[in-house]
Amino acid sequence: MKRITLTRFLIEQQRNEKVLPGELRLLIEIVARACKTISHAVSKGALGEVLGSLDSENVQGEVQKKLDVIANELLLEANEWGGHLAALASEEMATIHRIPNRYPKGEYLLLYDPIDGSSNIDVDLSVGTIFSVLKAPEGVPGREVMEEDFLQKGRQQVAAGYAIYGPQTILVLTVGTGVYEFTLDREVGSWIMTDANMTMPQGKCEFAINMSNRRQWSPAVVRYIEERVEGTAGPCGKDYNMRWTASMVADVHRILKRGGIFMYPYDHRTPGKARLRLMYEANPMSFLVEQAGGAATDGFIPIMDVEPTGLHQRVGVVLGDKAEVETLTAYGNAH
Ligand code: F6P
Repeated sequence: MKRITLTRFLIEQQRNEKVLPGELRLLIEIVARACKTISHAVSKGALGEVLGSLDSENVQGEVQKKLDVIANELLLEANEWGGHLAALASEEMATIHRIPNRYPKGEYLLLYDPIDGSSNIDVDLSVGTIFSVLKAPEGVPGREVMEEDFLQKGRQQVAAGYAIYGPQTILVLTVGTGVYEFTLDREVGSWIMTDANMTMPQGKCEFAINMSNRRQWSPAVVRYIEERVEGTAGPCGKDYNMRWTASMVADVHRILKRGGIFMYPYDHRTPGKARLRLMYEANPMSFLVEQAGGAATDGFIPIMDVEPTGLHQRVGVVLGDKAEVETLTAYGNAH
């Protein structure tokens, strides 16, 4: 098998496609390198004393796991000194982190969820890191970056990806020219391309939703799920399967590879209430899913067209198989 490393892929994208400026290439390489270190920490588990929770809470009032904090610091330290970023933001930090004056500054903004699905860590199930890259508005790095500079629609993303720490450690990436998958070869420490054109299979009968939240779904979501649970006896005329990993990275990875639909919809009892974060969870995953031939909406409009109002804003998420997303979104609009 011809082995194409991440470095080679990025250099070729820079050279041939001209879609990848040098600073963005550096940024992606640095994030990928940090993900290798996170993968190492995750795999040590109890032996590395990385399991369990801390006494602290993040800005969303969630108890922080030790690995949330370790991974957050690893990504922050790895990205501070390279000269490619103006600032970064993370699920684990209340506000943005500007690149300190002792380092050169660049024109990119990085957002990340250092450990997604962290409830899975202590029980040895897959977790991951999600990241999104935006270009800072005009004038940066000549002026100080503000939180508002990050509040750009998902369509403005120039790169997005995730690393999944599962039986294999895998990096899935887009720079707007399709979706690429790299598997970590631990013996040589390199990311090797294992899928050069990740395309989501369509027409698969599988859905992912936390069924215990049924009481808070909208009538549209209830209708959509009930029709599928009815299987061959219902209006769909076919049986559906259900999977729920409680780690968005793992669930989206499965959907990218195997097809189906993933949902964490709005809570209809409290308008605007949702679980997943727009800027560093929903937007990057939507970019990947659209690039792989799927669709992603908040139940009404494409997620990447949602106007951001806050760094830690939450949003309903319905993504995956195009026809299924369209069906549910059409039900949603009817209510
Ligand atoms: O970041 C939030 C998250 O952990 C996602 O990765 C996952 O999809 C979801 O929450 C799990 O939610 P629940 O605890 O309701 O299963």
